[in-house]
Amino acid sequence: MPISFKALQVTQREDKRFERHIIKRSTAELPAGELLVQVHYSSLNYKDALSATGNPGVTRNFPHTPGIDAAGEVLECSNGAFEPGAKVIVTSHDLGMETDGGFGQMIRVPSAWALPLPEGLSLKESMIFGTAGLTAALSVREIIESSRISGQEPVLVTGATGGVGSIAVGLLARAGFKVTAATGKPNEAQYLEYLGAHEIIDRASVTQGSERPMLKPRWGAVVDCVGGEILSAAIKATHYDGVVTCCGLVGSPELDLNVFPFILRGVRLVGIDSAECPMQRRRQAWHYLAGAGKLDQLPQMHEEVGLDGLDTRIAAMLKGRLKRRVLVDLRR
Ligand SMILES: NC(=O)c1ccc[n+]([C@@H]2O[C@H](COP(=O)([O-])OP(=O)(O)OC[C@H]3O[C@@H](n4cnc5c(N)ncnc54)[C@H](OP(=O)(O)O)[C@@H]3O)[C@@H](O)[C@H]2O)c1
Repeated sequence: MPISFKALQVTQREDKRFERHIIKRSTAELPAGELLVQVHYSSLNYKDALSATGNPGVTRNFPHTPGIDAAGEVLECSNGAFEPGAKVIVTSHDLGMETDGGFGQMIRVPSAWALPLPEGLSLKESMIFGTAGLTAALSVREIIESSRISGQEPVLVTGATGGVGSIAVGLLARAGFKVTAATGKPNEAQYLEYLGAHEIIDRASVTQGSERPMLKPRWGAVVDCVGGEILSAAIKATHYDGVVTCCGLVGSPELDLNVFPFILRGVRLVGIDSAECPMQRRRQAWHYLAGAGKLDQLPQMHEEVGLDGLDTRIAAMLKGRLKRRVLVDLRR
């Protein structure tokens, strides 16, 4: 029996512009999949902002419901992988890209995309983290596991007030690293300190002199969320054997670099992908977020909106102006 539900829908107009409306949909319109989930919470990620404004690198087929994150309760599971009522997290894979996503009260997906909610996290907390938290956890784990940092050398986080950046600051500080947060929002210094940053710097100070082939070593490791010039400058200023993780492109997808940091300092550049990340690594990352990485600051790290609050947050995110994670309550 089809169920009617509320969703944000993005449509393309005849003049090729995109618009967003909250509409009633039916589960009969959802794609095939073993698992029908009633979504309690979702969150806003940069990819959602791109999908919701018609970026063809994320979504090509409209009308479409974005939302790469969803946490909720299983209503039906045709292959028995989950019991009805089980609490699950579904993030990335194709959710919210070409598959109707978490900005709707129902999703239907392959059961292999879902993880049981780990003990220690509520559905709400899991979505305050969302894909941003998963990506930050995957990045920080690379640095922790490399265990080559003396403890004295600061770890640089770029795009520090963003979703991935702010959670990375919190996770690294909690793991005992001295964190330098690079930001374009100096008035958010107090918030970054609250998350555990040891030092807050203007993002322009990372790129100073970046045209040079190598820079004086400053960073024991780096979590980069921005790409482009700031990433290349950070790599050039990373200490011997340091790990630099790269997950984002809000600054630029380009990387203008020579090989000196790799062949003279043994710097390792590690790509982070949360979308196709194998399930076992994903499970480990969620267990980390539910345990050692569960940040006490989570309640202060987000604002909560309904579907009707998304439009303004999407515009702010695309301008780099969001200050907190946006949690979407689908039960409103
Ligand atoms: N690889 C993956 O699996 C994966 C997963 C999640 C996200 N991502 C990517 O990671 C990036 C960050 O995602 P997010 O969810 O954290 O986004 P976000 O919440 O919008 O944060 C991005 C932050 O980057 C900084 N920034 C924005 N525009 C900038 C510019 N032009 N130049 C330099 N810095 C700028 C801003 O922080 P400050 O003002 O503090 O500098 C902004 O808050 C995005 O590119 C996203 O697509 C990748």
